[in-house]
Amino acid sequence: MNKYYLTTPIYYPSDNLHIGHTYTTIAADTIKKYKKLKGFDVFFTTGTDEHGQKIQEKAKENGVTPKEYVDGIVEDIKKLWETLEIDYDFFRRSTDPDHEKTVQKIFTKLYEKDEIYKSFYEGYYCTPCESFWSKSQLVDGNKCPDCGRETHIEREETYFFRLSKYRDKLLKFYEENPDFIQPESRKNEMINNFLKDGLEDLSVSRSTFDWGIKVPFDEKHVIYVWIDALSCYLTALGYETEDDENFQKFWPADVHLVGKEIVRFHTIIWPALLMALDLPLPKKVFGHGWILFDDDKMSKSKGNVIYPEPIIELYGVDAFKYFLLREFSFGQDGSFSREKFLQRLNSDLANDLGNLVSRTITMIEKYNDSLIPKPVLEEGIDKELKDMASATHKKVDEYMQEFNFSYALEEIWKLIRRTNKYVDETMPWILAKDNKKDRLDTVLYNLAESLRIVAVLLNPFMSNTSKDILDQLGVTESLSWEDAGEWGKLESNLRVNKKDIMFPRLDIEKELVKLEKANSDLIRKRKELKEKKKLEENKEVKEAKEIEEKEELITIDDFAKVKLKVAKVIDCTNHPKADKLLVLTLKIGDETRTVVSGIKEYYKPEDLIGKKVIVVANLKPVKLRGIESNGMILAAEDENGNLTLLSTLDEIEDGATIS
Ligand code: MSP
Repeated sequence: MNKYYLTTPIYYPSDNLHIGHTYTTIAADTIKKYKKLKGFDVFFTTGTDEHGQKIQEKAKENGVTPKEYVDGIVEDIKKLWETLEIDYDFFRRSTDPDHEKTVQKIFTKLYEKDEIYKSFYEGYYCTPCESFWSKSQLVDGNKCPDCGRETHIEREETYFFRLSKYRDKLLKFYEENPDFIQPESRKNEMINNFLKDGLEDLSVSRSTFDWGIKVPFDEKHVIYVWIDALSCYLTALGYETEDDENFQKFWPADVHLVGKEIVRFHTIIWPALLMALDLPLPKKVFGHGWILFDDDKMSKSKGNVIYPEPIIELYGVDAFKYFLLREFSFGQDGSFSREKFLQRLNSDLANDLGNLVSRTITMIEKYNDSLIPKPVLEEGIDKELKDMASATHKKVDEYMQEFNFSYALEEIWKLIRRTNKYVDETMPWILAKDNKKDRLDTVLYNLAESLRIVAVLLNPFMSNTSKDILDQLGVTESLSWEDAGEWGKLESNLRVNKKDIMFPRLDIEKELVKLEKANSDLIRKRKELKEKKKLEENKEVKEAKEIEEKEELITIDDFAKVKLKVAKVIDCTNHPKADKLLVLTLKIGDETRTVVSGIKEYYKPEDLIGKKVIVVANLKPVKLRGIESNGMILAAEDENGNLTLLSTLDEIEDGATIS
């Protein structure tokens, strides 16, 4: 069986994911479903990229540890994938212990092969991108060329990966594998912007923060987050572990799907690292465009972030997936707007698809007792529909090879629209009225058969809708992709089964208000939840402090400051100048010292000589009525003023320490 390994990037759990992030994952999931239908053995990984300065700072802002911070968001991300019915095979968290261990192994291996060396780095650092830049790479003065934010100068001791030596090898690899970087324009960008003028060695460790995987032989350093993150594609398969069956089977990756801003990491740094590790390179890296909002990058600070959850809740998973894959050309940027989304829902889903399903099933119910009829009387007009239906499969296949989801869907919709037109042309209600049963049966069969083909072709994109259509047609057996390429496979006499309208027509104005409100409600809810968590956290810390203060709790470290010893009283006299004080001479191991104590009321000097007592041995000396006291002996006193000196339960040598 042919294998297929595909990946999404691992997402930063610095915040909840927006519709832009879901784009990559939905595309990957669609490819997986398509390949599976075509009989491939597919492995699909995704995950979260949890280390680095940005996350550490976010956690600090929220008053929690980095791990506590990401745990909550990772949970939300997993929930989102579940809602979107994403069928991934492995979720890699970069904080997984087995991942961390393998990344350390990779780093050590590279160091031992002299692919990594230690030196110093000074450069322009972009904290959000975790990247150093040279002055010539900066834009608008000192801004990061990737994200456009301000950089600052940083100098630090660092390990370097010998990236520079891979420039020619990379260019040769691109030449020998012309499809490695897709779309083509991204390849040119890589060559012209990064490779043409040579590559510099890459700083691959950081010592200015510590939320990361430690360099195993130099714990002052953490491994650069991108080496950590990129390695996830290997560690997800069990690379360098005892259980590396998946690695043996699935590596190299067939495709890494990534957004355009991280193509550089995946087509320059990643292949060079793999070459250094003597591993085969991925077959393809596809850099897709960004989903913008009103032509602007979505960002929290701009307040224009669109979250997927409200859209899915209001209109369903399939409508959301359909829109993203249909509206935008995968390789290019596109602008999301709620109006466009609602318009497509009305035109493509309600008018075209929903309408075709509903009228076909209704007519079969009405004119043929709910049974799929047998086609008996063909006419010329049928040929066009049949030819088109059979050809659609091939066209969709061709577009799917290029990950051109939008055109693939457009081909399916051409068939849907053609089939709707066929209804208008053949007018089954007239055929029924005129009692042209043979012709009517044929037309109804053709409609149902066209819908069956549409349903199979839609499966990778909109699995629920696809199943729903097949259910309504009474098709119960599972179909393969190839079944969509053959006209006439639909059996007659299946019983149709009408369901509710799949995509009701919407009042766009009303829905716009609803959608916008749902998005801001979610933002508010999440903010409140964060604040609440922060407050609770602060409250807990405050309460703990108060209890400590109230009960005068001390830590074990506080207690360890007090040096207590067993001492033997070798002499004891009354203080010559004070009524209440005794002067004791104590032997503490090899040392003798004088302690003045206010216990004359309770003990006579002769009672104490030869006794063992407990002394605080590291108390600052004080003079008590002219005599220097070097320590304090411990006594217990009850409410009635009874006092007794402390001693040990059993005999023990003086000088013994107490803890
Ligand atoms: N953690 C790194 C990836 C490491 S992979 C070894 C990262 N994470 S990210 O969360 O910032 O981005 C993850 C993916 O989401 C990227 O492919 C990025 O392009 C994509 N998108 C983020 N915003 C997007 C849009 N607005 N539109 C489309 N994709 C977007 O980079």
